Amino acid sequence: MRQMLSMQGSWSNRWVFILAAMGSSVGLGNIWLFPIMVGQYGGGAFILLYLCCMLLVAVPIMMAEVVIGRHARQNPVNAIEGAAVSAGASRHWRLVGVLAIFCGFLIFSYYSVVAGWVLHYLVAMIFGQLNGLGVDQTSRFFNALLADSQMLLLWHSLFVLLVIWVLAQRVERGLDRAMRFLMPVLFLMLFMLLGFALTTGEFVPATEYLFNFHLQDIGWDAVLIALGHSFFTLALGVGVIMAYSAYMGKGDAIAPTVIAIGVFDTLVAMLIGLVVVTVVMAAQMELRSGPGLLFVTLPVAFTQLPGGQVFGFLFFLLAAVAALTSAISLLEPATAWLTERFRWSRARAVSLLGVLAWGLGVAALYSLGQLPDLKLLGVSIFDLIDITTTILFLPLGGIAVAVLAGWVLDKEVLTAELALSSPSLASLWLWLLRFIAPSAVGLIFVMNLYNALYS
Ligand code: PHE
Repeated sequence: MRQMLSMQGSWSNRWVFILAAMGSSVGLGNIWLFPIMVGQYGGGAFILLYLCCMLLVAVPIMMAEVVIGRHARQNPVNAIEGAAVSAGASRHWRLVGVLAIFCGFLIFSYYSVVAGWVLHYLVAMIFGQLNGLGVDQTSRFFNALLADSQMLLLWHSLFVLLVIWVLAQRVERGLDRAMRFLMPVLFLMLFMLLGFALTTGEFVPATEYLFNFHLQDIGWDAVLIALGHSFFTLALGVGVIMAYSAYMGKGDAIAPTVIAIGVFDTLVAMLIGLVVVTVVMAAQMELRSGPGLLFVTLPVAFTQLPGGQVFGFLFFLLAAVAALTSAISLLEPATAWLTERFRWSRARAVSLLGVLAWGLGVAALYSLGQLPDLKLLGVSIFDLIDITTTILFLPLGGIAVAVLAGWVLDKEVLTAELALSSPSLASLWLWLLRFIAPSAVGLIFVMNLYNALYS
């Protein structure tokens, strides 16, 4: 059944939807992966490549998610099932929605553990515990934190509670209000950090590092990395964008909104990258990616610079807000599904989900700390969740959405909902969804699988 409005509520306007989608896309990935990726794989050339991947693959898939979500005004499982059935296809297509929702739930469980690390560093920055420490000492600080499961349990629980609190309310009072407050705060902090970076004297070299064109560094690996990252960062394949779109206004133009989200996310990633690279260069340290960058290199770099404790604190606050808005989005599809499927209140649905994800997170954090034997298939629970979700489920979800929208659903209904200005643009969109997107994402999937099994 087609509904006029979602039972969860709706965004106050199109901009709040954009803010919420950006909140979902700007996350830890923008901070600890993107800057280094750009530096390693060709600077400006990589950014150009990344934009192409985004426009040709990620944006069409995101448009499909928005179209399906807004058309049904229901959670991803019902939305997909309804669209498949009315196109005369099997209702079992809803399994795509189930898989996506489950994947978001799994990512949430370990993402909130990492957010707990960020909170711990935030407090350590306030109390100056990291001041004057070198790389070795900060590494020890980080390892001691990973081993301190009780401390991590505290931060993890606090973070999960915060997410539950936001999601427990109707969209207008919860999600909408949170995004209207948190996202401007995030942008403000980013501009203050940019101001700080400008004073260090390393801004120009950092710009060169990030944006100079090195075509020779672009190879197949760069293409795969750019594609894979566009998926993770734009929160595709996990039902988040589909769920958020159910709360969108009928008259809002979809294509420009989706392109704006992609462009803003890339802009923010580049600005965060500028801050990160400038600060690390100003402290004359080596750039590396992943947790080591955020939890070892950056604290050392910030605290070595004048005024660094304050701006280091601000940086971790930015990371915490980015992690929070992403985490909130990860649990929304499952929350919407439980409330619509069983007629539960949002508070009840998100409490149950929160507790389950919290428990899984606890297993993940103990598997990194006090219970190193907590392993499955030879890897820690933490790594297992990380690998299965980002490497396998995410691309699978993306392929499924592309195939569903490109081949299975009713073209007329989709293009009517999308309401593009010209029919040839609509054909281009369908063509990208049918051929380009599934083969490109399929390639990432196969390569990821190969790498996971053989390296
Ligand atoms: N986009 C987030 C990041 O870059 C992570 C995320 C993935 C959020 C999938 C929602 C859905 O960290």
